[in-house]
Amino acid sequence: MELPVRRAFFVLTLPSLAVAVVAIACSGDPSSAPEDVTRDDAGSSVIPPGSKPSEPSGPAGTGLATGLPCDVQGILENRCIACHGGDDPPPLLDYDDLKAKSKKDPTKTIAEVALDEMRAKTMPPTPAVPPEDDEIASFEEWIDAGTPRNSTACTDPPPPAGDGGTDAGADAGPKCTSGQMWMGDDDDGTPLMNPGEACNACHQQQGGPNLRIGGTVYPSLHEPDDCIGSAPPPQLRVVVTDSRNRVFNMPVNASGNFLTRNGERPRPPLRAVVTNGQQTRAMVGTVTSGDCNSCHTVNGANGAPGRIMAP
Ligand code: HEC
Ligand code: HEC
Ligand code: HEC
Repeated sequence: MELPVRRAFFVLTLPSLAVAVVAIACSGDPSSAPEDVTRDDAGSSVIPPGSKPSEPSGPAGTGLATGLPCDVQGILENRCIACHGGDDPPPLLDYDDLKAKSKKDPTKTIAEVALDEMRAKTMPPTPAVPPEDDEIASFEEWIDAGTPRNSTACTDPPPPAGDGGTDAGADAGPKCTSGQMWMGDDDDGTPLMNPGEACNACHQQQGGPNLRIGGTVYPSLHEPDDCIGSAPPPQLRVVVTDSRNRVFNMPVNASGNFLTRNGERPRPPLRAVVTNGQQTRAMVGTVTSGDCNSCHTVNGANGAPGRIMAP
């Protein structure tokens, strides 16, 4: 069945274009970066606004510093970049994007208008639901602090091509192990919906809850969108740990989906492990986005090897 909304999915994979560029940029000696970094009280590296970045910057998922605080980057990824990942509407991918002049109000930066729009609940546009209050508050804190640039990357660089973990059956092409596709309607919001697709990317455009974290676990690495993850054992769990060592422990449902929607927001960078009690599979790197399937696509985007696999 062809679902109407694949747009979000493709827009989200756009940053993967930058990965090729990054691979080259990273091959230089990182220690040769100029040392113009000052430390703020919180211990994170901050460069005075207006000065040049000390390391190459690039969009989330590339392992480069976006220049944005990890929190701010996470909010934009979870709530905005399904639309703001290209040229029009204006991109919200890195520091320079946010400091550009607004077209709507040239006396303000995009960052300032973004805050206004989130507060007024006009961005993301309906039927998407507005960001949570704590997300808006984090964004506002950054603006109030004078939008300091964060010179440290929140995500680790993706592994070099061909080194993407256990690539079981890559050559065989995508296969739906369960043999069962999710046939529901996109308008039937349920935790079982659209396994394999990027949950928040669609919710940003079509409505649905602001998931703090959402994704799908599969028995093998390359399973197509809407394929139902086969009969997850009851002890299968996805465990995400945030930068304050808070643990988000999520069961995997009958579609293979896991999610968390209420409660405290995980503060990126995030680490992730899938466990069935005895065995685990851990993500080595850290991420800022809780929209796990945005990278864990059928063939993987932003360096991910493919699906999140059960151990
Ligand atoms: C469903 C697509 C969609 C989503 C999701 C979305 N936007 Fe937008 N945004 C647009 C479009 C289209 C425009 C241009 C038309 C307009 O301003 O209404 C826009 C305009 C803007 C502008 C004005 C740009 C300028 O030049 O002043 C800002 C700022 C903005 N969005 C911020 C956000 C933020 C922050 C989020 C996430 C919390 C978000 N948007 C989510 C579609 C989207
Ligand atoms: C193609 C678009 C699309 C994708 C992809 C999608 N959703 Fe949804 N989802 C929606 C829409 C639209 C709604 C709101 C429908 C409604 O109000 O009943 C929704 C609502 C929901 C709800 C709310 C149900 C309730 O009881 O309030 C949950 C939970 C949910 N989605 C989970 C997910 C998860 C988990 C994923 C990813 C594995 C996902 N969705 C992927 C479109 C999507
Ligand atoms: C920005 C892209 C990106 C996002 C978002 C992302 N991942 Fe990953 N993930 C990767 C990459 C790249 C790898 C392979 C390298 C590594 O392990 O760090 C990976 C590997 C993994 C692995 C190990 C795979 C294996 O078979 O060994 C697990 C488990 C995992 N991710 C879970 C998650 C979960 C859960 C989320 C959502 C909270 C998530 N990922 C979000 C990029 C991403």
